[in-house]
Amino acid sequence: MKIAIGNDHAAVEMKEAIKAHLEGRGILVEDMGTNTCDSCDYPVYGEKVGRAVASGEADLGIVICGTGVGISMAANKVKGIRACVCSEPCTARLSRMHNDSNVLGFGARIIGIEMAKMITDAWLDAEYEGGRHQRRVDQLMEIENR
Ligand code: RB5
Repeated sequence: MKIAIGNDHAAVEMKEAIKAHLEGRGILVEDMGTNTCDSCDYPVYGEKVGRAVASGEADLGIVICGTGVGISMAANKVKGIRACVCSEPCTARLSRMHNDSNVLGFGARIIGIEMAKMITDAWLDAEYEGGRHQRRVDQLMEIENR
């Protein structure tokens, strides 16, 4: 499993912690930056992660900014991406099970590192259920073609 991870200047420390956590789980991580605390623009990194996932270069993506909102919005602009911002594990788990989310977002200024790890684990340990959810996920993706 390979996960692309991207963040802005607000989330360098959290990104490093999540990277180490993922690697501890035996996951290959592709770090798409940023890696400094110099002010930068979150759309750049959200798009990079979105494109890595949409192209199949990575299986899943994780995006982190101050709130998790802006960088998730950027990832969601890439065709094929279903990104969600989560502040607790339950939403993360259900976003995989029901919405087949392929990018997880969270906010480094909103939650702590331990919560971010718990959210990440809940998301990774859940599986898409398909079935009745497939029609709705298909409808979501059809919006991109209109
Ligand atoms: C950067 O100051 C901040 O706006 C960004 O990290 C994020 O919270 C945007 O959604």
